[in-house]
Amino acid sequence: MLFDPNPKTRRRDLFDRERELEELEKSLESKIKLTVLLGIRRIGKTSLLNVAVKELGKPCIKIDAGIFKIEGYTMYTLYRVLANGLSRLMGRWRGLREFLSRVKGLRVAGLEVEMSLDEEKPSLIEILGRLDEWASKNKEDVLIAIDEAQNMRFLKGGYGRLDFGELIRYSMENFDNIRFLVTGSEVGVVMDFLGLENPSSPLYGRPSNIITLRRFSEDFSRNFLKEGFKEIGLHPEDRFIDKVVDTLDGVVGWLTLLGYRCYQLRRVDETLLREFVNYAEKLVEGELKKLEALSPRYIEVLKAVANGYTTWSDIKRWIEQREKRLLPSSIVSRVVIKLVKLGYLDKRYTPRPEYMIPDPVIRKVLATKSM
Ligand SMILES: Nc1ncnc2c1ncn2[C@@H]1O[C@H](COP(=O)(O)OP(=O)(O)O)[C@@H](O)[C@H]1O
Ligand SMILES: [Mg+2]
Repeated sequence: MLFDPNPKTRRRDLFDRERELEELEKSLESKIKLTVLLGIRRIGKTSLLNVAVKELGKPCIKIDAGIFKIEGYTMYTLYRVLANGLSRLMGRWRGLREFLSRVKGLRVAGLEVEMSLDEEKPSLIEILGRLDEWASKNKEDVLIAIDEAQNMRFLKGGYGRLDFGELIRYSMENFDNIRFLVTGSEVGVVMDFLGLENPSSPLYGRPSNIITLRRFSEDFSRNFLKEGFKEIGLHPEDRFIDKVVDTLDGVVGWLTLLGYRCYQLRRVDETLLREFVNYAEKLVEGELKKLEALSPRYIEVLKAVANGYTTWSDIKRWIEQREKRLLPSSIVSRVVIKLVKLGYLDKRYTPRPEYMIPDPVIRKVLATKSM
């Protein structure tokens, strides 16, 4: 069902995205060992990842790095999810058992992988190495898919941070049959953290494919809604559809949630849309509060843009008026750059550089509410 609020897992529940799916699957089957899937929240990254992994049927360990946000950025959590992933993999590819049981600090009991967590804990490189050996023997690739990978950047390793970029680099250079797929909503943060564009980082200049998911166009959003409603036997007027597209723009996650709400209540009308927007705004306000806790200036800059102050100098002027003092350019720049990295702002050239807020609900909350 198109309006199913969970991330999709089958192509037939996926509206469009054919080009992106093909690109993703091609990349995962190519010699390129790192694929990066980017896009703002609720744009369909997890869904695309799920469908590609399922269709390719490759051995895959999927880690939702959102877990670290919940359970703490510890190696304990990493090892726990890794052990689960390996157990699942072994359940399907029995031959793996023999290879994994050779890893020091790792025990295979039945179909469960157990790991020591003390000094004896297994080396991640050794685990990857054994997976690679098994894969090479079986003419397979093992895919390590890490969803919302920006959360890995705070992970502590033995004596400091786990250097994930270095781990990927090592694997790329030494293991021919390991592939990585990394997604992230905090677009620039993921890019920074992988360091693909940073000359002093381990992954600089290494071959990788980057795929970016964008919002649906107005037409696509309209068709998505029409098909979705037809599927659940509801028949909204065109005016309603237009209003939804106007309000929620092409962010498929918002359109899906609204559709699901209509499905639950078996009705489509403007009151429902209003209530939904209220609910979505509350959700977004919660997210923005977290951003504000990092620095109130983030919110001020976003407010500037939401209120039509879209060039860099406009933004600076807005902030200065708000704070009633002149600010050094570097301070404003730093905040703007960070917001672009986090995906809250997009930079466009029209032809002069201008900023915009890609998520329609965030845009509205910032333009109308006093946070
Ligand atoms: N192409 C699509 N067709 C139908 N529903 C989609 C599509 N992409 C995403 N969705 C729905 O939108 C919501 C957000 O998708 P998700 O994959 O979780 O996005 P992300 O991982 O980018 O935050 C989910 O409810 C999902 O079912
Ligand atoms: Mg996701």
